[in-house]
Amino acid sequence: MSKEILVTGGAGFIGSHTCVALCEFGYTPVIIDNLSNSRESMIAGIEKIIGREVKFYPIDCCHLDPLDLIFQKHRFDGIIHFAAFKSVAESVANPEKYIDNNMGSLQNILTLMEKYRVPNLVFSSSCTVYGEPEVNPVSENTPWKSAASPYGYTKQLGEKYIGERHIQDPLGHVILRYFNPIGAHHSGLIGELPLGMPNNLVPVMIKKISQQQPLQVFGNDYPTPDGSCIRDYIHVMDLAEAHVKALQWLEKNPNQSEIFNLGQGKGNSVLEVIQQFESINGIRVAFEISPRREGDITQIFADPTKAKELLGWQTTRTTAEALKDAWHFNLQQS
Ligand code: UFG
Repeated sequence: MSKEILVTGGAGFIGSHTCVALCEFGYTPVIIDNLSNSRESMIAGIEKIIGREVKFYPIDCCHLDPLDLIFQKHRFDGIIHFAAFKSVAESVANPEKYIDNNMGSLQNILTLMEKYRVPNLVFSSSCTVYGEPEVNPVSENTPWKSAASPYGYTKQLGEKYIGERHIQDPLGHVILRYFNPIGAHHSGLIGELPLGMPNNLVPVMIKKISQQQPLQVFGNDYPTPDGSCIRDYIHVMDLAEAHVKALQWLEKNPNQSEIFNLGQGKGNSVLEVIQQFESINGIRVAFEISPRREGDITQIFADPTKAKELLGWQTTRTTAEALKDAWHFNLQQS
């Protein structure tokens, strides 16, 4: 009997790719998603890739009663909790919305985990918890700075809250701190498709190309070799596979808890990403330099050694491959 894993936010960018990875490793994902920043077409994309139907409930994790019914209906062997708002800018404009939604949904998930004795939670966190680090690469022990946005604050608070509930009732959890996820499944059937105007570099770049407008590069006067910011871009399928490894680690280490950085372990500047996109896809990216974006840090990249040693996971895809897959996915949409 295949193990059923609840995937909240499973129609989203990282969630949909993780559902595919779960199926490849013999698990059965059960998706909950309120479609607030995702599309039902991602469910169809997942089904095409895996060759069968997937169970999907279009509900909101902040609503306890319908969520409880799903826990009554299924006997989950684990939960991967993605469902959260993730726009830094929106969180600055409307912090209460972020606290209410991101903490409310997490609280409900933990309550039902405890009520139905579901083991093994994988929580979606972010390198944003580190703020602007003094030294790179950052390990899991790098001290946190105060959060640069309410979004970042919900990730810090979420990690702490899970840790505190774990002390009361240790059902086992892994916290995954993502660096910058980009790319798409190589089939082009699922990828990054935010509703409304995107904020992140690669989807913005793709949108600007299709609109024949220049990409705004936010700042070229940072203390980096080419003056633009440096991030650790990670292919979304590498990230998806890490979630499966995290579940497998929990199965071997019941009731334990761990935290892992997920990145390539090297940084690329914004200008390097543009140049790599152009050369791998044979397309010109028009851009212009604009002022720094408020809240951006100069550089951050991961030390992913712990994930390699404990999970047996490391990235296998390059930034260039991710940029190729992102563009391929975009071409399938038109
Ligand atoms: N950038 C541009 N122009 C754009 C968009 C981005 O130059 O139009 C630059 C940014 O200034 C930054 C880099 O591209 O230097 C990456 O920016 P992103 O917005 O893609 O990602 P961030 O590093 O800002 O990270 C944010 C959150 C993370 C979250 C991540 C992915 O802070 O917590 O988005 O959602 F994980």
